Amino acid sequence: MKTLIAYYSRGGATKKAAQRLQKITGGNLFEITGEKNYGNYFTALGIARKEFSQNELPNVTDTVKNFEVYDRILIGFPIWYGKCPQLVMSFISQYDFSGKAVFPFCTSGMSGIDSAAALLKDALKGANVHSGLRMNKADEAAVKQWLKEKA
Ligand SMILES: Cc1cc2nc3c(=O)[nH]c(=O)nc-3n(C[C@H](O)[C@H](O)[C@H](O)COP(=O)(O)O)c2cc1C
Repeated sequence: MKTLIAYYSRGGATKKAAQRLQKITGGNLFEITGEKNYGNYFTALGIARKEFSQNELPNVTDTVKNFEVYDRILIGFPIWYGKCPQLVMSFISQYDFSGKAVFPFCTSGMSGIDSAAALLKDALKGANVHSGLRMNKADEAAVKQWLKEKA
């Protein structure tokens, strides 16, 4: 099985989570990057709020090579306003996820991942979207259990 771990991280927490998942799964890491600089926590709050309210899909700046070779895709992001950042929605709109197993993961201050994972599931029709995992407190055993669960 070929695994891709695609993640967006503004402050570094989700990047660390993605690196942990890389070690556990042996998959390939891909950092989702955008044209915009979200700046610090407070400027990010303003920019993100506007993106959500206008349903803006900000441009991503890099693409996954040979996306079709991956059968399992872990998608990671920080929770923003209870959701998945619009940049991640832009990222997923660029690829054909049909038939792929998708595992959403996040880091957050306190929010759970369920609403964000539901949004991804809606957007990824044709993919096999599994339940999400909040990585803040997930150890290796929890990760392995999550990856075994049926969608
Ligand atoms: C724009 C913005 C919105 C956020 N909204 C939430 C939220 O709704 N719930 C929450 O628990 N944390 C929220 N946070 C905190 C981040 O989810 C948390 O710090 C996350 O671990 C950051 O990951 P990163 O370092 O990979 O960017 C928000 C942070 C930002 C910048």
